[in-house]
Amino acid sequence: MTIQQNFSLKSYNTFGIEATAKFFVEIQSVEELRHILQNSDYQSIDKLFLGGGSNILLTKNYEGLVVKINLKGIKKIFENDSYSYIQAGAGEIWHELVMYCVENQYAGMENLSLIPGTVGAAPMQNIGAYGVEIKDIFEELQALNLETLEIETFKVNDCHFGYRESVFKHQFKGKYVITSVTFKLNKIPDYKVAYGDIQKTLEEMNIFELSIKTISDAVVSIRKSKLPDPAEIGNSGSFFKNPEISKVQYEEIKTKFEHIPSYPINETTVKVPAGWLIEQAGWKGFRDGEIGVHTRQALVLVNYGGGTGEQIKGLSVKIQASVLEKFGISLSTEVNFI
Ligand code: EPU
Repeated sequence: MTIQQNFSLKSYNTFGIEATAKFFVEIQSVEELRHILQNSDYQSIDKLFLGGGSNILLTKNYEGLVVKINLKGIKKIFENDSYSYIQAGAGEIWHELVMYCVENQYAGMENLSLIPGTVGAAPMQNIGAYGVEIKDIFEELQALNLETLEIETFKVNDCHFGYRESVFKHQFKGKYVITSVTFKLNKIPDYKVAYGDIQKTLEEMNIFELSIKTISDAVVSIRKSKLPDPAEIGNSGSFFKNPEISKVQYEEIKTKFEHIPSYPINETTVKVPAGWLIEQAGWKGFRDGEIGVHTRQALVLVNYGGGTGEQIKGLSVKIQASVLEKFGISLSTEVNFI
Protein backbone atom coordinates (compact mmCIF):
# COMPACT_ATOMS: atom_id res chain seq x y z
CA MET A 1 0.00 0.00 0.00
CA THR A 2 1.79 3.10 -1.27
CA ILE A 3 0.59 6.61 -0.60
CA GLN A 4 1.26 8.78 -3.62
CA GLN A 5 1.38 12.57 -3.72
CA ASN A 6 -0.02 15.05 -6.25
CA PHE A 7 -1.57 12.12 -8.06
CA SER A 8 -3.49 12.63 -11.31
CA LEU A 9 -7.14 11.55 -11.05
CA LYS A 10 -7.75 11.80 -14.80
CA SER A 11 -8.12 8.05 -15.29
CA TYR A 12 -10.07 7.68 -12.03
CA ASN A 13 -13.11 9.74 -13.06
CA THR A 14 -15.24 8.87 -16.09
CA PHE A 15 -15.56 12.56 -17.03
CA GLY A 16 -11.80 12.36 -17.70
CA ILE A 17 -11.22 15.63 -15.82
CA GLU A 18 -7.60 16.49 -15.13
CA ALA A 19 -7.37 17.17 -11.38
CA THR A 20 -4.95 15.95 -8.74
CA ALA A 21 -5.25 14.41 -5.29
CA LYS A 22 -2.81 15.73 -2.70
CA PHE A 23 -2.56 12.13 -1.43
CA PHE A 24 -3.77 8.95 -3.09
CA VAL A 25 -3.87 5.32 -2.00
CA GLU A 26 -5.45 2.12 -3.32
CA ILE A 27 -6.65 -0.42 -0.77
CA GLN A 28 -7.09 -4.14 -1.52
CA SER A 29 -8.47 -5.33 1.84
CA VAL A 30 -10.51 -4.15 4.82
CA GLU A 31 -7.33 -4.46 6.93
CA GLU A 32 -5.55 -2.03 4.61
CA LEU A 33 -8.50 0.34 4.85
CA ARG A 34 -8.41 0.22 8.67
CA HIS A 35 -4.66 0.66 8.58
CA ILE A 36 -4.80 3.87 6.56
CA LEU A 37 -7.62 5.27 8.69
CA GLN A 38 -5.55 4.66 11.82
CA ASN A 39 -2.46 6.35 10.38
CA SER A 40 -2.06 9.51 12.44
CA ASP A 41 -0.54 11.44 9.49
CA TYR A 42 -3.87 11.30 7.65
CA GLN A 43 -6.40 11.28 10.48
CA SER A 44 -7.27 14.95 10.42
CA ILE A 45 -7.38 15.50 6.65
CA ASP A 46 -10.39 15.18 4.35
CA LYS A 47 -10.90 11.85 2.65
CA LEU A 48 -12.67 10.88 -0.54
CA PHE A 49 -13.54 7.20 -0.98
CA LEU A 50 -13.60 6.43 -4.66
CA GLY A 51 -15.28 3.61 -6.58
CA GLY A 52 -15.36 3.84 -10.36
CA GLY A 53 -15.47 7.64 -10.32
CA SER A 54 -18.55 7.48 -12.53
CA ASN A 55 -20.79 9.77 -10.55
CA ILE A 56 -18.48 12.62 -9.61
CA LEU A 57 -17.45 15.92 -11.14
CA LEU A 58 -14.02 17.10 -10.00
CA THR A 59 -14.29 20.89 -9.92
CA LYS A 60 -10.81 21.45 -8.46
CA ASN A 61 -7.75 19.62 -7.17
CA TYR A 62 -8.57 17.51 -4.12
CA GLU A 63 -6.57 18.72 -1.12
CA GLY A 64 -7.05 15.60 1.00
CA LEU A 65 -6.53 11.83 0.71
CA VAL A 66 -8.30 9.90 -2.04
CA VAL A 67 -8.81 6.25 -1.12
CA LYS A 68 -9.55 4.06 -4.13
CA ILE A 69 -11.57 1.05 -2.97
CA ASN A 70 -10.21 -2.04 -4.67
CA LEU A 71 -11.90 -4.78 -2.65
CA LYS A 72 -12.39 -7.71 -5.03
CA GLY A 73 -14.12 -11.09 -5.03
CA ILE A 74 -17.43 -12.54 -6.21
CA LYS A 75 -18.87 -15.64 -4.56
CA LYS A 76 -22.09 -17.52 -4.02
CA ILE A 77 -22.61 -17.59 -0.27
CA PHE A 78 -25.91 -19.45 -0.07
CA GLU A 79 -28.71 -20.87 -2.18
CA ASN A 80 -32.13 -22.40 -1.69
CA ASP A 81 -34.79 -23.58 -4.13
CA SER A 82 -35.74 -20.04 -5.15
CA TYR A 83 -32.67 -17.84 -4.78
CA SER A 84 -28.91 -17.65 -5.11
CA TYR A 85 -27.17 -15.19 -2.79
CA ILE A 86 -24.16 -13.61 -4.48
CA GLN A 87 -21.69 -11.50 -2.56
CA ALA A 88 -19.35 -9.08 -4.34
CA GLY A 89 -16.51 -6.90 -3.10
CA ALA A 90 -17.16 -3.15 -3.30
CA GLY A 91 -14.34 -2.69 -5.82
CA GLU A 92 -15.73 -5.12 -8.39
CA ILE A 93 -16.76 -3.48 -11.66
CA TRP A 94 -20.57 -3.44 -11.74
CA HIS A 95 -20.93 -4.66 -15.32
CA GLU A 96 -18.49 -7.53 -14.71
CA LEU A 97 -20.69 -8.68 -11.82
CA VAL A 98 -23.75 -8.46 -14.10
CA MET A 99 -21.95 -10.54 -16.75
CA TYR A 100 -20.98 -13.14 -14.12
CA CYS A 101 -24.65 -13.39 -13.07
CA VAL A 102 -25.86 -13.59 -16.68
CA GLU A 103 -23.39 -16.41 -17.44
CA ASN A 104 -24.35 -18.35 -14.33
CA GLN A 105 -28.13 -17.92 -14.82
CA TYR A 106 -28.66 -15.79 -11.70
CA ALA A 107 -31.63 -13.64 -12.71
CA GLY A 108 -32.57 -10.11 -11.72
CA MET A 109 -29.64 -7.92 -12.69
CA GLU A 110 -29.83 -8.22 -16.46
CA ASN A 111 -31.70 -4.92 -16.91
CA LEU A 112 -28.83 -3.20 -15.10
CA SER A 113 -26.24 -4.21 -17.71
CA LEU A 114 -23.51 -1.78 -18.78
CA ILE A 115 -24.03 0.76 -15.98
CA PRO A 116 -20.60 2.27 -15.27
CA GLY A 117 -19.16 2.18 -11.76
CA THR A 118 -18.36 -0.27 -9.01
CA VAL A 119 -20.44 -2.56 -6.81
CA GLY A 120 -19.80 -0.48 -3.67
CA ALA A 121 -21.07 2.70 -5.26
CA ALA A 122 -24.24 1.08 -6.60
CA PRO A 123 -26.32 1.10 -3.37
CA MET A 124 -25.26 4.66 -2.49
CA GLN A 125 -27.62 6.01 -5.13
CA ASN A 126 -29.75 2.91 -5.66
CA ILE A 127 -28.73 2.65 -9.32
CA GLY A 128 -31.53 1.81 -11.70
CA ALA A 129 -32.41 1.33 -15.35
CA TYR A 130 -35.19 -0.18 -17.48
CA GLY A 131 -37.62 -0.76 -14.64
CA VAL A 132 -35.19 -2.32 -12.14
CA GLU A 133 -33.39 -0.74 -9.19
CA ILE A 134 -30.72 -2.27 -7.01
CA LYS A 135 -33.17 -2.33 -4.10
CA ASP A 136 -35.19 -5.00 -5.99
CA ILE A 137 -32.31 -7.51 -5.83
CA PHE A 138 -30.62 -6.33 -2.66
CA GLU A 139 -30.10 -8.66 0.31
CA GLU A 140 -27.61 -6.78 2.51
CA LEU A 141 -24.36 -4.86 2.53
CA GLN A 142 -21.36 -4.62 4.78
CA ALA A 143 -19.83 -1.25 5.56
CA LEU A 144 -16.95 -0.05 7.70
CA ASN A 145 -18.00 2.44 10.35
CA LEU A 146 -15.41 5.21 10.04
CA GLU A 147 -15.59 6.05 13.74
CA THR A 148 -15.47 2.61 15.34
CA LEU A 149 -13.67 0.89 12.41
CA GLU A 150 -16.08 -2.03 12.88
CA ILE A 151 -17.93 -3.71 10.02
CA GLU A 152 -21.70 -3.30 10.23
CA THR A 153 -24.45 -5.01 8.22
CA PHE A 154 -27.30 -3.10 6.57
CA LYS A 155 -30.46 -4.85 5.43
CA VAL A 156 -32.77 -3.34 2.81
CA ASN A 157 -34.87 -1.43 5.35
CA ASP A 158 -31.78 0.10 6.93
CA CYS A 159 -30.74 1.63 3.59
CA HIS A 160 -33.86 3.80 3.00
CA PHE A 161 -33.62 3.35 -0.75
CA GLY A 162 -35.46 5.86 -2.94
CA TYR A 163 -35.10 7.12 -6.50
CA ARG A 164 -31.30 7.53 -6.77
CA GLU A 165 -31.26 7.85 -2.98
CA SER A 166 -30.10 5.98 0.12
CA VAL A 167 -29.28 6.64 3.74
CA PHE A 168 -25.60 6.85 2.70
CA LYS A 169 -26.26 10.13 0.85
CA HIS A 170 -28.01 11.67 3.87
CA GLN A 171 -27.98 10.59 7.53
CA PHE A 172 -24.86 8.40 7.11
CA LYS A 173 -23.05 10.58 4.57
CA GLY A 174 -19.32 10.36 5.20
CA LYS A 175 -19.81 7.91 8.09
CA TYR A 176 -19.37 4.55 6.36
CA VAL A 177 -17.42 2.92 3.55
CA ILE A 178 -19.31 0.11 1.81
CA THR A 179 -17.06 -2.95 1.61
CA SER A 180 -19.28 -5.64 0.06
CA VAL A 181 -22.83 -6.14 -1.19
CA THR A 182 -24.93 -9.32 -1.25
CA PHE A 183 -27.61 -9.77 -3.91
CA LYS A 184 -30.60 -12.08 -3.83
CA LEU A 185 -31.03 -13.41 -7.37
CA ASN A 186 -33.83 -15.51 -8.78
CA LYS A 187 -33.38 -19.08 -9.92
CA ILE A 188 -36.60 -18.75 -11.88
CA PRO A 189 -36.33 -15.56 -13.95
CA ASP A 190 -39.02 -12.90 -13.82
CA TYR A 191 -38.27 -10.99 -17.02
CA LYS A 192 -38.97 -7.26 -17.07
CA VAL A 193 -39.35 -6.06 -20.64
CA ALA A 194 -42.19 -3.56 -20.36
CA TYR A 195 -39.99 -0.56 -19.75
CA GLY A 196 -38.62 1.67 -22.48
CA ASP A 197 -37.38 0.14 -25.69
CA ILE A 198 -36.49 -3.37 -24.50
CA GLN A 199 -39.27 -5.19 -26.35
CA LYS A 200 -38.76 -3.15 -29.52
CA THR A 201 -35.00 -3.71 -29.41
CA LEU A 202 -35.41 -7.48 -28.97
CA GLU A 203 -37.60 -7.54 -32.07
CA GLU A 204 -35.10 -5.44 -34.03
CA MET A 205 -32.40 -7.90 -33.00
CA ASN A 206 -34.60 -10.77 -34.22
CA ILE A 207 -34.70 -12.24 -30.74
CA PHE A 208 -37.98 -13.91 -29.96
CA GLU A 209 -36.95 -16.03 -27.00
CA LEU A 210 -36.55 -14.28 -23.67
CA SER A 211 -33.59 -15.23 -21.53
CA ILE A 212 -31.35 -13.50 -19.01
CA LYS A 213 -28.74 -13.23 -21.77
CA THR A 214 -31.02 -11.86 -24.50
CA ILE A 215 -32.42 -9.16 -22.19
CA SER A 216 -28.91 -8.19 -21.14
CA ASP A 217 -27.89 -8.02 -24.82
CA ALA A 218 -30.88 -5.76 -25.61
CA VAL A 219 -30.09 -3.41 -22.71
CA VAL A 220 -26.43 -3.24 -23.77
CA SER A 221 -27.54 -2.43 -27.31
CA ILE A 222 -29.92 0.36 -26.17
CA ARG A 223 -27.34 1.91 -23.85
CA LYS A 224 -24.65 1.79 -26.52
CA SER A 225 -26.93 3.52 -29.01
CA LYS A 226 -27.92 6.37 -26.66
CA LEU A 227 -25.14 6.86 -24.16
CA PRO A 228 -21.55 7.83 -24.89
CA ASP A 229 -18.82 5.36 -23.87
CA PRO A 230 -16.70 7.10 -21.18
CA ALA A 231 -13.61 5.49 -22.74
CA GLU A 232 -14.28 7.63 -25.83
CA ILE A 233 -16.11 10.73 -24.55
CA GLY A 234 -15.88 11.75 -20.89
CA ASN A 235 -19.25 11.68 -19.11
CA SER A 236 -21.01 10.60 -15.96
CA GLY A 237 -24.25 9.16 -17.32
CA SER A 238 -27.33 11.13 -16.33
CA PHE A 239 -26.14 14.45 -14.96
CA PHE A 240 -29.52 15.41 -13.47
CA LYS A 241 -32.29 13.42 -11.82
CA ASN A 242 -35.69 13.19 -13.46
CA PRO A 243 -37.77 15.72 -11.50
CA GLU A 244 -40.98 14.83 -9.71
CA ILE A 245 -43.67 17.47 -10.03
CA SER A 246 -47.29 17.80 -8.95
CA LYS A 247 -50.00 16.64 -11.34
CA VAL A 248 -51.42 20.15 -11.18
CA GLN A 249 -48.18 21.65 -12.46
CA TYR A 250 -47.90 18.90 -15.07
CA GLU A 251 -51.40 19.63 -16.44
CA GLU A 252 -50.55 23.32 -16.57
CA ILE A 253 -47.36 22.67 -18.56
CA LYS A 254 -49.26 20.29 -20.82
CA THR A 255 -51.54 23.08 -21.99
CA LYS A 256 -48.49 24.68 -23.64
CA PHE A 257 -46.38 21.58 -24.38
CA GLU A 258 -48.87 18.88 -25.25
CA HIS A 259 -46.25 16.16 -25.87
CA ILE A 260 -44.52 16.34 -22.48
CA PRO A 261 -43.87 12.71 -21.39
CA SER A 262 -44.53 11.59 -17.81
CA TYR A 263 -44.45 8.55 -15.54
CA PRO A 264 -46.99 8.31 -12.71
CA ILE A 265 -45.54 8.21 -9.18
CA ASN A 266 -48.72 8.39 -7.10
CA GLU A 267 -52.14 10.07 -7.11
CA THR A 268 -50.71 13.57 -6.97
CA THR A 269 -47.20 13.35 -8.40
CA VAL A 270 -45.60 12.53 -11.76
CA LYS A 271 -42.01 12.20 -12.91
CA VAL A 272 -40.96 13.95 -16.10
CA PRO A 273 -37.81 13.07 -18.07
CA ALA A 274 -35.16 15.73 -17.57
CA GLY A 275 -33.68 14.77 -20.96
CA TRP A 276 -36.89 15.90 -22.66
CA LEU A 277 -36.99 19.21 -20.74
CA ILE A 278 -33.34 19.93 -21.58
CA GLU A 279 -33.87 19.08 -25.25
CA GLN A 280 -36.94 21.34 -25.43
CA ALA A 281 -34.90 24.13 -23.85
CA GLY A 282 -32.58 23.83 -26.86
CA TRP A 283 -29.49 22.27 -25.29
CA LYS A 284 -29.26 18.89 -26.98
CA GLY A 285 -25.99 18.69 -28.92
CA PHE A 286 -24.83 22.08 -27.58
CA ARG A 287 -21.05 22.41 -27.61
CA ASP A 288 -18.79 25.05 -26.12
CA GLY A 289 -15.14 24.20 -26.86
CA GLU A 290 -14.32 20.94 -25.11
CA ILE A 291 -17.57 20.50 -23.20
CA GLY A 292 -21.18 20.07 -24.16
CA VAL A 293 -24.48 18.21 -24.06
CA HIS A 294 -24.54 14.79 -25.71
CA THR A 295 -26.05 14.71 -29.19
CA ARG A 296 -28.23 11.62 -28.53
CA GLN A 297 -29.24 12.04 -24.85
CA ALA A 298 -29.66 15.57 -23.48
CA LEU A 299 -29.40 14.34 -19.89
CA VAL A 300 -25.72 13.56 -20.37
CA LEU A 301 -23.09 16.31 -20.19
CA VAL A 302 -19.83 15.50 -21.92
CA ASN A 303 -16.15 16.35 -21.86
CA TYR A 304 -14.71 16.00 -25.38
CA GLY A 305 -11.14 16.34 -24.16
CA GLY A 306 -9.56 19.03 -22.06
CA GLY A 307 -12.73 20.42 -20.43
CA THR A 308 -12.61 21.34 -16.75
CA GLY A 309 -15.01 20.49 -13.97
CA GLU A 310 -15.69 24.19 -13.44
CA GLN A 311 -16.75 24.55 -17.09
CA ILE A 312 -19.10 21.57 -16.85
CA LYS A 313 -20.52 22.90 -13.58
CA GLY A 314 -21.05 26.29 -15.28
CA LEU A 315 -22.91 24.63 -18.16
CA SER A 316 -25.09 22.67 -15.72
CA VAL A 317 -26.06 25.89 -13.93
CA LYS A 318 -27.06 27.50 -17.25
CA ILE A 319 -29.16 24.44 -18.17
CA GLN A 320 -30.89 24.51 -14.78
CA ALA A 321 -31.69 28.21 -15.21
CA SER A 322 -33.12 27.77 -18.69
CA VAL A 323 -35.30 24.75 -17.74
CA LEU A 324 -36.55 26.70 -14.72
CA GLU A 325 -37.39 29.69 -16.89
CA LYS A 326 -39.13 27.67 -19.60
CA PHE A 327 -41.02 25.14 -17.47
CA GLY A 328 -40.84 26.37 -13.86
CA ILE A 329 -39.08 23.12 -12.91
CA SER A 330 -35.87 22.93 -10.85
CA LEU A 331 -33.47 20.20 -11.89
CA SER A 332 -31.30 18.68 -9.19
CA THR A 333 -28.02 16.99 -10.02
CA GLU A 334 -27.44 13.25 -9.81
CA VAL A 335 -23.68 13.77 -10.09
CA ASN A 336 -21.77 14.77 -6.93
CA PHE A 337 -19.58 17.86 -7.16
CA ILE A 338 -16.19 17.47 -5.49
N1 EPU B 1 -35.79 12.21 -23.99
C1 EPU B 1 -35.82 13.27 -24.86
N2 EPU B 1 -34.65 13.84 -25.23
C2 EPU B 1 -33.44 13.40 -24.77
C3 EPU B 1 -33.43 12.32 -23.86
C4 EPU B 1 -34.61 11.73 -23.48
O1 EPU B 1 -36.88 13.71 -25.30
O2 EPU B 1 -32.44 13.96 -25.17
C5 EPU B 1 -37.05 11.54 -23.64
C6 EPU B 1 -37.15 10.18 -24.33
O3 EPU B 1 -37.69 10.27 -25.59
C7 EPU B 1 -38.01 9.41 -23.41
C8 EPU B 1 -37.69 9.97 -22.06
O4 EPU B 1 -37.07 11.23 -22.27
O5 EPU B 1 -39.37 9.69 -23.65
C9 EPU B 1 -36.81 9.06 -21.21
O6 EPU B 1 -35.55 8.87 -21.83
P1 EPU B 1 -34.64 7.58 -21.54
O7 EPU B 1 -35.42 6.32 -21.71
O8 EPU B 1 -33.39 7.73 -22.31
O9 EPU B 1 -34.36 7.61 -19.98
P2 EPU B 1 -34.04 8.80 -18.96
O10 EPU B 1 -35.25 9.05 -18.12
O11 EPU B 1 -33.45 9.96 -19.67
C10 EPU B 1 -33.33 7.21 -16.99
C11 EPU B 1 -32.15 7.05 -16.06
C12 EPU B 1 -31.00 6.35 -16.77
C13 EPU B 1 -31.48 4.99 -17.25
C14 EPU B 1 -32.69 5.18 -18.17
C15 EPU B 1 -33.32 3.89 -18.61
C16 EPU B 1 -32.28 8.91 -14.51
C17 EPU B 1 -31.72 10.22 -14.08
N3 EPU B 1 -31.72 8.35 -15.58
O12 EPU B 1 -32.92 8.09 -18.04
O13 EPU B 1 -29.96 6.15 -15.84
O14 EPU B 1 -30.46 4.29 -17.93
O15 EPU B 1 -33.72 5.94 -17.48
O16 EPU B 1 -33.95 3.29 -17.52
O17 EPU B 1 -33.20 8.40 -13.88
C18 EPU B 1 -28.00 7.20 -14.99
O18 EPU B 1 -28.62 7.34 -13.94
O19 EPU B 1 -26.81 7.59 -15.13
C19 EPU B 1 -28.68 6.61 -16.12
C20 EPU B 1 -28.11 6.55 -17.32
